[in-house]
Amino acid sequence: MVFIKGADMKIISEIKKLRKEITSARREDKKTGFVPTMGAIHKGHLSLIKAAVESCDFVIVSIFVNPTQFGEGEDFQQYPRELNSDAEICEKEGVDLIFAPSTEQMYPRKQLTWVNVESLSEGLCGASRPGHFRGVCTVCTKLFNIVQPDVAFFGQKDAQQAVVIKRMVADLNIPLKIEVCPVVRDEDGLATSSRNKYLSDEQRKDALLIYKSLCECRKLYEQGVKDTNRLRGKIEEVLGTSRAVEIDYITLVDAETLEQVSKVSGRNVLAAVAAKVGDTCLIDNIILESGQK
Ligand code: PAJ
Repeated sequence: MVFIKGADMKIISEIKKLRKEITSARREDKKTGFVPTMGAIHKGHLSLIKAAVESCDFVIVSIFVNPTQFGEGEDFQQYPRELNSDAEICEKEGVDLIFAPSTEQMYPRKQLTWVNVESLSEGLCGASRPGHFRGVCTVCTKLFNIVQPDVAFFGQKDAQQAVVIKRMVADLNIPLKIEVCPVVRDEDGLATSSRNKYLSDEQRKDALLIYKSLCECRKLYEQGVKDTNRLRGKIEEVLGTSRAVEIDYITLVDAETLEQVSKVSGRNVLAAVAAKVGDTCLIDNIILESGQK
């Protein structure tokens, strides 16, 4: 297949220069789509980029490994940084602009202002990563203010992040629409993630149990089991078949409010798992739709 390289994708690291580009796109009345990422672009990111390119006239991808969302002892230093190959991929997809700021651009002084979405940030990943969502919400607010997009694209892979960001945008009257795109998986079922690079072949096999456990949970639900304790137990049982999988949480919550539910009834339920394989933290989830038997 021949593809024509979009010759004019720009990579900008300064906020001032970015604003200039955005102002001219706005003057032309272009609908601006924004995909915030931390880079090491994979198929999951690509699905968001494709959705943005398809529905918007001007597409900006940000690549910024945000220090404020990493906790002590987490993988901030180690996190893959691959700007050159990321840029190639984005260009092929028809992205108009990559915003790849330095930490100094994003945090030029001690940050005194933080955005915190209460309660929604506290359970699931928030429980073992205190301050994580505060970092995510603060950087996303900054990025939304810098880019001023019409639509921003997020992935269902990070289900709690999507719920938190949607609530933040609603609560703060940020004038943009949030689009949430489905979880993308490799052929073997593993949800694609920049962190999958850390896994050895053996660890990858263990990691596959996460999706397998969610599939078994769905199967049980489809057989008529609505009790969330039993559904949770099935996930635990499958994950328990390997000692290499260390469970952080298994939870079944209302997909919108993230509140614990005892039954899948009248509302969609998010079945979410976080587990460590070796030193690598992995998350995945499925939605059990209440309309389904
Ligand atoms: P990052 O992990 O790079 O992910 C960027 C976006 O890609 C997120 O919206 C995430 O949910 C989505 N994504 C990742 N893997 C996916 C998959 N397998 N299927 C579908 N979507 C997937 O999430 C972040 O960065 C950061 O927290 C960020 C929002 C950029 C703020 O720093």
